[in-house]
Amino acid sequence: MEKTVQLYEGKAKKVFATEDENLCIVSYKDDATAFNGLKKGTIVGKGIVNNRMSNMLMQLLEKQGVPTHFVKELSDRDTLVKKVSIVPLEVIIRNVSAGSFAKHYGVAEGIQFDEPTIEFSYKNDELGDPLLNSYHALALKLATKEEIETIKRLAFKVNEVLIAYFKTLGIRLVDFKLEFGRLPDGIIVLADEISPDTCRLWDLKTNEKLDKDRFRRDMGGVEDAYKEVFKRLMGE
Ligand code: TMP
Repeated sequence: MEKTVQLYEGKAKKVFATEDENLCIVSYKDDATAFNGLKKGTIVGKGIVNNRMSNMLMQLLEKQGVPTHFVKELSDRDTLVKKVSIVPLEVIIRNVSAGSFAKHYGVAEGIQFDEPTIEFSYKNDELGDPLLNSYHALALKLATKEEIETIKRLAFKVNEVLIAYFKTLGIRLVDFKLEFGRLPDGIIVLADEISPDTCRLWDLKTNEKLDKDRFRRDMGGVEDAYKEVFKRLMGE
């Protein structure tokens, strides 16, 4: 399958049409942004790590009954996916306090929750992705009640599968962001990516950060952190 026209360029990926109207090619870049695009940089090799890692995890999730957009890995940076219309919600699951949760509620990072939390943001860069709840999402007609129920169920299922899998790699899944899409027949599938850009991943023993927080917080060692996650995942 070949790329035809570029449909969209996001902060970390480009999306191309193909000869098949139901399929797209996603191409992962090394560009990194934070704080709604205010901070910009490059993480060398990130596109390869995020592409291959997302594909591996999406295939694992499919096997566990989570439908995804994944079709086929075409190269280190390019993947064939089902064309979806993205539900404009960022779905965030947290297992451990960190980031905006710690800041909003005035708690330390690293507190393990008894139960995971879920929250939604309205995916809208102009508004800075404001937080909203499912009633707001319904009022704004971002998704139907049934879609929101499906999204919640799938997001918690993803969490269960990924917590267990990352544990085998010596990684603590602190929190992550998911996006879902609608297929032409209305079926909801997991879309976008699952990568160190979109997850907080801490070493189980040392709590060392192995994710994009190293970039967001100018901690250094960004490329090495992405490489370390990749190595544990792929055994490479
Ligand atoms: P937060 O603590 O900043 O709200 O982030 C929660 C999780 O969501 C964290 O794993 C990083 C991820 N995330 C994204 O993937 N994209 C974003 O734009 C933001 C703000 C967070």
